[in-house]
Amino acid sequence: MLNVEGVSKYYGQRQAALSNISFRIDKGEMVFLTGASGAGKSTLLRLLYLEEKPSAGRILLDRFDLSRISKRKIPFLRRHVGVIFQDFRLIPERTAAENVALTLEVLGKSGREIRRKTDEALNLVGLLGKRNNYPYQLSGGEAQRVSVARAVVNEPLVLLADEPTGNLDEQNSRELLELLSEINMRGATTIIATHQVQLTAKYAKRTLNLVSGILEKETR
Ligand SMILES: Nc1ncnc2c1ncn2[C@@H]1O[C@H](COP(=O)(O)OP(=O)(O)OP(=O)(O)O)[C@@H](O)[C@H]1O
Ligand SMILES: [Mg+2]
Repeated sequence: MLNVEGVSKYYGQRQAALSNISFRIDKGEMVFLTGASGAGKSTLLRLLYLEEKPSAGRILLDRFDLSRISKRKIPFLRRHVGVIFQDFRLIPERTAAENVALTLEVLGKSGREIRRKTDEALNLVGLLGKRNNYPYQLSGGEAQRVSVARAVVNEPLVLLADEPTGNLDEQNSRELLELLSEINMRGATTIIATHQVQLTAKYAKRTLNLVSGILEKETR
């Protein structure tokens, strides 16, 4: 499903942000990506959602070779990847529902389908009742749940989250991980980068640990 083969990423001539990383993730897995600040977690995720290209190695997502994809095809591939960021990245001028609907609008889906899928996704994150709230009318925890709905609304091949609990308090962090775990159990392959290892313990999932751009031997 996701195959990362000998991937390195250099920024300029300096030390590699990622050195010769290899791992495989099967469909339906939930994997935590851990490591200290600067270890390369965000860099690895950026390669997976095609914001950057690896300096060396190959990344295969389903039937796509992400390391060889042409610029022209990047938007097409991104439809298959759902992303959640630490700072939510909702559009302030759009309501919760409009934020979630955006991906589907870009894809040219019909109004009826957009409405149905958007409500389904908002219902999944428990926020159907706030579909008409603007981001400033949402708590941090709610805003992050809207961004989860937006990430899953088009049923991506893989769901990526970069420090999704970084701006949330303890209670909201736990609830968000619970939600991501639930979404994973419904079949979404999920990769969550976090340095809050204490939050991951409960899930006893596979953990990929980065140390200065090098992937440590895996613990399960
Ligand atoms: N655009 C960039 N240009 C140059 N160097 C970069 C760039 N992005 C990241 N780096 C470097 O790559 C290394 C890995 O950074 P990255 O952001 O992937 O770490 P991280 O594990 O996500 O850290 P954090 O937990 O603080 O988010 C760091 O040394 C960083 O300075
Ligand atoms: Mg980071």
